[in-house]
Amino acid sequence: MQVDQIRQAFPALRRTRAGRPPIYFDSASMAMKPRPVIESLTRYYELFPSCGGHGRSVHWFGNEVRGEVSKARASLQQLVNARSANEVIFTKNATEAINLVAYSYPFQKADVVLTTDKEHNSNLCPWRKLEAKGRIRHEVVPSNDDNTFNLESLRQRIKAGGVKLVSMVHMSNLDGYTIPAKEVIDLCHAHDVPVMLDAAQSVPHRRIDMQELDVDFLAFSVHKMCGPTGVGVLCGKEESLNKLENFIVGGDTVADTFYNQEPLYLDSPWRFEAGLQDYAGIIAAGAAAEYLMGIGLENISRHEHELNKYVTEQLQRHEDIDIVGPQDARLRGGILTFFIRRLGLGDIGEQFDERANIMLRTGTFCVHSWFNARGINRNITATRVSLYLYNTMAECKVFVETVDEIMYETKSFPRVELGAGD
Ligand SMILES: Cc1ncc(COP(=O)(O)O)c(C=O)c1O
Repeated sequence: MQVDQIRQAFPALRRTRAGRPPIYFDSASMAMKPRPVIESLTRYYELFPSCGGHGRSVHWFGNEVRGEVSKARASLQQLVNARSANEVIFTKNATEAINLVAYSYPFQKADVVLTTDKEHNSNLCPWRKLEAKGRIRHEVVPSNDDNTFNLESLRQRIKAGGVKLVSMVHMSNLDGYTIPAKEVIDLCHAHDVPVMLDAAQSVPHRRIDMQELDVDFLAFSVHKMCGPTGVGVLCGKEESLNKLENFIVGGDTVADTFYNQEPLYLDSPWRFEAGLQDYAGIIAAGAAAEYLMGIGLENISRHEHELNKYVTEQLQRHEDIDIVGPQDARLRGGILTFFIRRLGLGDIGEQFDERANIMLRTGTFCVHSWFNARGINRNITATRVSLYLYNTMAECKVFVETVDEIMYETKSFPRVELGAGD
């Protein structure tokens, strides 16, 4: 992969501060945006900034918007190999996509929804809320000690019955680990249990084939795949989508409305996309999908693994650094989360930023429940490096040098225990 060439397409990466470029290691939170995506946003506003609603504004500009939105839907369909473009629903983000399923799935009291024990709050809070309202029971499949997936636990729980939906993070934003999705789905389907994957971290970084996986619902965010903010996607098998009631209703979801009978709703995707949409964002989402497919998702994963392998090995030299999840970098995509067991270090995110323009994430990464369940000592800040197609080996070397510097300067600090069972 020609990373130098790729970087040319990202204007933000050409900035400098104090004469040094940015080292952006926070792509699991939000990815940088390449020129084709930025240009497709401005194209909408410059050329046809009008309504692309279904069956509305049947004029020159409106028709162009509808044409561009259909192209974008087809690009997203191709990115995840959905069976039809009608299986692609645009939402605000992955969170909204998951909530859409949670609030429109035909649950009956006491139905069980299963998740893993390291869900992003976006795939946890909706289920906790439904449980609090008495609509479902939420249960958790415990991971192995090294944070890998425990298929046997899932098998036991599914066999016991009562599970109506399995909703799991595909690639974890905590440690980069990817669950064995195909095995999970086959096992669940053998017991007629549908599966939703929270694919916010996987779709941007690896090739996803919905048909090969046979997954029922797939939720992801476009801002993590080099696209604009404010657009997410829920993909679903048409037969699974048809089982959902629509969640937010109004303009554009209907074929006809009356005062004395229920509205006649359109089919998917329109019945789920209420009101005028973020057309610029949707069109740019298509540009982002095309951009990633042009580079090749396999190439992106390979590049991230190479960088992660190097950074992991370098951090493993320090005995006061603990890496979260499997120690083998091949199992963690482009993510490396670690604790530095030194009391008094504080939040070291600012130090990385100030010392070398390294932008990374510290804290609990919206997976508070994992930290609480494992009793992690909150006096130590977890630090997450998340790599993407535009990161270079040279940047990783600067990062490693900065870690070495911090470890040297704090070598007299007292060692902290990580938490219960440490
Ligand atoms: C695994 C996972 N799921 C869901 C989300 C939520 O994404 P969004 O905030 O774009 O809805 C994120 C964002 O970090 C994530 O990493």
